[in-house]
Amino acid sequence: MSRTRTSDVLVIGGGIIGLVTAWRAAQRGFATAVVDPEPGGGAAQVAAGMLAAVTELHYGEQTLLGLNLASARRYPDFAAELTELTGHDLGYRRCGTLAVALDADDRAHLRELHALQQQSGLESQWLSGRECRRLEPMLAPGVRGGLRVDGDHQIDPRRLAGALVAACEREGVVFHRAWAERLTVVADRAAGVVTADGTGLGAGQVVLAGGSLSGRLAGVPEDVLPPVRPVKGQVVRLTMPRRHGPFLSRTVRAVVRGSHVYLVPRESGELVIGATSEELGWDTTVTAGGVYELLRDAHELVPGITELPLTETRAGLRPGSPDNAPLLGPTGLEGLLLATGHYRNGVLLTPVTGDSMAHVLATGELPEEARPFTPKRFSTATALTEQPA
Ligand code: GLY
Repeated sequence: MSRTRTSDVLVIGGGIIGLVTAWRAAQRGFATAVVDPEPGGGAAQVAAGMLAAVTELHYGEQTLLGLNLASARRYPDFAAELTELTGHDLGYRRCGTLAVALDADDRAHLRELHALQQQSGLESQWLSGRECRRLEPMLAPGVRGGLRVDGDHQIDPRRLAGALVAACEREGVVFHRAWAERLTVVADRAAGVVTADGTGLGAGQVVLAGGSLSGRLAGVPEDVLPPVRPVKGQVVRLTMPRRHGPFLSRTVRAVVRGSHVYLVPRESGELVIGATSEELGWDTTVTAGGVYELLRDAHELVPGITELPLTETRAGLRPGSPDNAPLLGPTGLEGLLLATGHYRNGVLLTPVTGDSMAHVLATGELPEEARPFTPKRFSTATALTEQPA
């Protein structure tokens, strides 16, 4: 092994979650390093960037809703700070979202979502099909009704990743452009990593933020390894015409035959259509079937998409966790913390994750809003001691 270089905090993984953790840690005065062969890459290169705390609400996920809303509230200041620091335009667009129904089943599903949103104190407004089409004239005539959610916005995740790399550089974060191959453990404490080229990187605290790869790092004790799995999402990108009036002025989404489809229009003219959800391990092949289903479902919502140039197809891997919520903070191994498992909400949860991780690195304690997301909720020993008598 070649010589060891040390930092206070070493972040494994330079996706948006690792980068925001490194940036916020460096702002707190920690000498911080990130190890990743391609910082700014990962799932953010594929994600649509919906900030959809309200429209992506699911039964049984009310605890996660609290964290999602906390992060959504921070987005305006977070985006402004990042843009001011780096000069990068993040494509942050406070455009709102319209979730629509195409048939009686979809409509019943959306009515239930509306009821759940109201029980949870969230703002959303039921619209008739005609009202939906008045808002978005490109919608299909068959739209039967919808939910207008003015608080669910969007950001361009590629721009966000680029800005976070720049922010880290500004704060003096050191980038090691290599794969982390093995966690180093010394005297029952995480002490750094060895990279694929045999370089040893030492650190006072190590944050594992490797997205869907987080459960695979060699050297991490079995009982501490995060239960994170890859969930494939295929996405297509089209280009909207620049002509009088927008093609779509807000995110439009629906459940079509049980599958979620969304269309996210950017100010740049890009239209992102996503996403499949497939449990296929590490496969990131773009398939004819995946693209067909996305375009078929999107076409049912907005028939005019068939006229648009198809500019990109891509697949990425969401880091799924057993309860669809992230794993944040200390593990059972001293010196090893996690920031992973963000599943469908990585872009939305970026601001609150950065703040929570910087707080726990500095104090040893997660802030109140992040406590339910301790990785220890999946440890057998903790689960047994917390059983009610
Ligand atoms: N949050 C959108 C997705 O994961 O597809």
